[in-house]
Parts: sequence; structure tokens; C-alpha cells
Amino acid sequence: SPAFYGALQAIERFKLKAIAIATDPQHGIDLDALHQALNDYPIKACWLMTNFHNPLGCTLSWDNKQRLVAMLEKYGVGLVEDDVYGELYAGLQRPLPAKALDKKGMVLHCSSFSKNLMAGFRIGWVAAGHHAKNIQRLQLMSTLSASAPMQLAIAEYLATSSYDSHLRRLRKALEQRKYAALQSLQRHLPYDVNLYPSRGGYFLWLELPPGLSSTALYWQALEKGISIAPGKMFTAGDKYDRHFRLNVSYEWDERCEQSVKVLAALIQQQIKAMHKTKI
Ligand SMILES: Cc1ncc(COP(=O)(O)O)c(C=O)c1O
Repeated sequence: SPAFYGALQAIERFKLKAIAIATDPQHGIDLDALHQALNDYPIKACWLMTNFHNPLGCTLSWDNKQRLVAMLEKYGVGLVEDDVYGELYAGLQRPLPAKALDKKGMVLHCSSFSKNLMAGFRIGWVAAGHHAKNIQRLQLMSTLSASAPMQLAIAEYLATSSYDSHLRRLRKALEQRKYAALQSLQRHLPYDVNLYPSRGGYFLWLELPPGLSSTALYWQALEKGISIAPGKMFTAGDKYDRHFRLNVSYEWDERCEQSVKVLAALIQQQIKAMHKTKI
């Protein structure tokens, strides 16, 4: 918690019981809290993001990935590792997933071409260790299969060197766009809005000062044609009403700059309104 709303919807659709484990925008999932939950509940599997978390942007350190895998191995609990943004790192090295530490075939490493080729493809994959056969059977029962011609086209493309050079260009573009966004946000937003920079992926996580609401900001911004993702979208409870996620994967242009100014003005308005009600 917080978590990608698609994962929350899947939990609901399959009528699963889930326990939310606190996740920090800088350090990732709280492993002590996870350990406690493993002790207290009959947990069957974990779903989480170890790299470039959606919505927080954080990445679990290598030491913590080791601790995570060792802990889950000890309890015999499988890990569904959602690594859709793993290839979209800033800097020189891809952060390895927890799957790289998996000696017992307990980690289901999931990713997709939606984020680094084209959202419309809707083709992904899972490296599922000894669960692979079962997953194939379940997929056949639920969706038959993804489009075969599309899969063949992607396979052919991957066999060339174009994918690697495409990824290199995309990583660079995303890094530059995020840098431009950060500069602009730091220039215009009130100083007491906290920004959590990330080293990869599409997103930035922001925290408003106490007393403000990102849900109210969402509606006010929408009226001006600006879309933010309010924190409440990422929880089944009602936490994170002071937080929101910004998608900064788009080319940064004058329109984005103006939108940040509008957001800043809306936040200032909320701050003023709060001070008035206090008086
Ligand atoms: C964390 C996370 N997992 C999974 C997905 C879904 O990927 P796809 O579009 O390939 O279904 C997304 C897309 O937004 C995502 O952000």
C-alpha cells in the first residue's frame, strides 16, 4: 500500500483476501511489516513491485530484495513480481528484479511491452518457474490467448537489434522529460509540497501539506483540463488523500509548464481556504 489500481481491481475480481503492507516512497515495502504479516496470517502469495513502483516510483535496494526473497522462501510463499517499468531505468544499469535471486522457482516475474513499446499491444509475459504450466492452463481458460499475429510480429522485432536501440532512446527521453518536469515543479509548486524523485519509470509521487486534499485538487484540475491521479486511487481504504501521482513520461512542452502553474495556483487556493477556515 499504496498499490497500482489494476492490482486492487484484480484482487476484487477474483474475490481474494488481501493484506496491505505499508510501502515507503523512498525505501519501498516495509519488510518488518511483511514479516509480521507472514507470522500472523496464512498468506499464500505476495504481489508487489520491486522496481520503479507504481505509483511511488521507488525501487527496493539489492539488500532488501535479498531479504525479501529469503523471507518468502522461508515461509514458502510465492511472489508475483510486477516489473513492467524495470527496463525504463535512468543511468547505466537495470536494477535486477527479485527473480534474479530466485533459486526455488517461487518468483513469477511479470512484465509487458505496454510501457516500452506501445500500450495498445497489450502483450506481456511471465517467467513463472514451476508455475508455468498451470499459468498457461489458466490463461487458456480465462482469455484463450493474446493475439498470435501480434506476438509473432513482436518476436520478429525482438530478434533484431532495433529493440535495444529503441530502449536506449526511450530511457534517455524519459530521463530528460522527468528532469524537466522536476525542474518545473520545483520552480512553481509551493515549497511545502513534497516531491519524491524516482530513478526510472513514468511517475512522480507528490505530497501536499497537512489539511489539503488531492481528491479536491483532482476535480479542480480536471475542470482546467489537467489530469492527476489522486492518492485514494491506490488504496482500498481512504489513505493518501494528501498525495497524488503525476505521469511525467510525456514530452515536456509549454502546455505542461502552464499546467504546472495552474496546479500550483490551485494548491495555493486550497492553502488560503484552509487558513481562512482556521481563523
Ligand atoms: C504496475 C503495472 N502493472 C501492470 C500494468 C498493466 O500492463 P498491461 O497494460 O500490459 O496490461 C500496468 C499498466 O498500467 C502497471 O502500471
